[in-house]
Amino acid sequence: MPVIPGSARLVILVAIPLRFAAFAQGPATMTPPNGANYWAVSGRFIGSKQCASCHPAQAKNFHQNSMSRALEPIESCAILSGDIHYTWTDGQYAYSITRAGARVLYTVTEGKETFETPLLYAFGQGKAGQTYVFDIDGRFYESRVSYYSKLSGLDLTVGAINGKPADLRAAAGRVMDANEARGCFGCHTTGARVGNVLQLKAYENGVQCESCHGPGGAHVDGIQNGKPRPNSIRSLKGMDAQDTNEMCGVCHRTWETVVTMGLKGINNARFPAYRLTNSPCFSVTDRRIACTACHNPHEGLVSDDKYYDSKCAACHNRTNLAIKKRTCPAGKQACTSCHMPRVEPAESHHAFPDHWIRIARSKNDYPD
Ligand code: HEC
Ligand code: HEC
Ligand code: HEC
Ligand code: HEC
Ligand code: HEC
Ligand code: HEC
Ligand code: HEC
Repeated sequence: MPVIPGSARLVILVAIPLRFAAFAQGPATMTPPNGANYWAVSGRFIGSKQCASCHPAQAKNFHQNSMSRALEPIESCAILSGDIHYTWTDGQYAYSITRAGARVLYTVTEGKETFETPLLYAFGQGKAGQTYVFDIDGRFYESRVSYYSKLSGLDLTVGAINGKPADLRAAAGRVMDANEARGCFGCHTTGARVGNVLQLKAYENGVQCESCHGPGGAHVDGIQNGKPRPNSIRSLKGMDAQDTNEMCGVCHRTWETVVTMGLKGINNARFPAYRLTNSPCFSVTDRRIACTACHNPHEGLVSDDKYYDSKCAACHNRTNLAIKKRTCPAGKQACTSCHMPRVEPAESHHAFPDHWIRIARSKNDYPD
């Protein structure tokens, strides 16, 4: 494993004794769900509608967060609604995606022969891109073309660029093995992944309440019986920056996952936990730099740079002796516009904000 950059990892070593000390006095929060324990193996899912009936504050704007729509069934997919007809060509292959009533047909032809299948699932909201999944003889395929908002149309799916398809079926899409399919549905739904098993009989589309908080059956039973059961729902309150990275990183990828995948340079732009950990602003135990300091998981993403100024000012202020000496000579507001510049990885048709908060000297100044 490569050497860990920055001071963040040193802090982890220091933090371990502190964390044990906290447990000795009784943890403020339950063990955060991360890694394999994220995918609950027991418990009953009850659906986000029920949660909303008692927790309106968290539920009210949740649909604005694209996480809630990370997977859409084809019938109700916004990008595929109406009288759509998307086309694209790659060498000898011509692609089209067309609505036919409740179904959406995906067609690939090379003149003599034509492959046609109904699409089953739409992954992603299309802000970056939307990729489709279909099935042939019980095996899932990822479409070779995706929809990109920036193009208002189709282009190659990220990762599909290399290699000429061997035949028409390969030109239509890439077959997924069982682990990969479990991964897609796990991160983009609620309850389809149970432990290490994928089941598509009963689940909710998108990342809903019980994906993060775990199955809520026992929690609600307890409250309805008048005997609330403590710890029957993952509280998630009070996690420090590192625990939050690990929890959100189950899907957004952790620092370790990105290192293990060997993704370098601009190819890791989309992985916030990795980028943030490498920033000099990051501190393992400090909640002011946790994902949730800047992003309320129950609200839509805020795109106004000025909204984030107060988040920076939580540390970068006159009373913070540790960093008082380092005040910005260049700007007083919209800090993220300069210190979290957006970068667009090849093929992605989307510029991701760089969570490695830093002084970016030029466009090409992009640390690994
Ligand atoms: C019948 C009403 C009701 C429903 C339905 C309900 N909750 Fe709760 N929830 C409560 C009450 C009351 C509390 C505070 C008392 C407690 O912690 O037991 C609470 C507390 C919580 C907490 C904080 C727990 C803590 O330890 O601080 C979370 C998180 C939570 N609920 C999530 C959910 C989720 C997710 C769902 C849907 C699966 C849900 N709730 C469904 C009533 C409800
Ligand atoms: C179960 C998987 C999963 C977990 C856990 C998860 N996310 Fe996400 N998140 C996603 C997916 C998938 C998307 C992309 C949704 C899309 O655009 O299709 C996303 C998108 C987002 C967005 C962009 C929202 C928008 O409207 O553009 C933010 C911000 C975000 N996540 C923050 C978080 C934070 C903070 C946490 C931890 C508290 C977290 N996520 C945990 C899967 C997850
Ligand atoms: C480990 C969890 C995880 C797995 C596995 C996963 N995704 Fe995602 N996916 C995410 C998160 C988080 C986002 C939002 C942030 C981002 O764009 O990286 C996302 C975004 C997307 C998007 C939006 C476009 C884009 O490029 O951002 C598409 C499309 C998508 N995923 C499709 C898939 C498909 C198809 C699979 C299976 C082959 C899959 N995902 C597997 C977590 C996952
Ligand atoms: C992406 C992960 C994620 C999703 C999805 C999610 N939450 Fe949460 N929720 C969190 C985190 C993280 C916290 C703790 C925030 C903090 O640090 O205070 C939390 C806290 C809560 C609390 C405790 C609030 C308090 O301060 O006592 C409730 C209640 C709750 N969520 C309900 C819901 C409901 C209802 C939904 C579905 C509409 C939902 N959550 C969806 C991550 C999530
Ligand atoms: C110091 C503040 C800050 C912290 C901490 C932070 N983010 Fe962000 N995040 C931002 C800003 C700023 C944006 C860009 C918002 C915009 O303009 O759309 C953003 C955007 C995002 C997006 C959407 C990316 C896109 O392409 O639109 C995701 C997903 C996300 N953050 C996830 C996370 C996760 C996961 C963590 C924790 C590992 C995290 N963020 C920590 C400030 C922060
Ligand atoms: C948890 C506290 C904390 C938060 C929140 C925080 N920072 Fe920092 N930041 C620091 C610390 C500590 C340093 C390192 C200071 C030093 O080395 O003297 C730093 C360093 C920096 C640097 C100098 C980087 C370099 O390469 O030398 C910049 C620029 C910066 N922060 C901008 C921001 C911006 C913009 C935000 C909000 C998006 C932000 N910070 C949020 C604590 C924080
Ligand atoms: C117009 C772009 C821009 C904006 C807006 C901006 N900065 Fe900067 N910032 C810079 C540049 C460029 C430098 C490096 C200056 C130099 O060293 O010549 C810098 C340096 C810094 C430093 C390091 C100072 C040092 O002594 O090394 C910190 C900390 C910082 N900025 C924080 C912030 C915060 C917090 C905000 C929002 C209140 C902000 N910046 C807004 C461009 C900007």
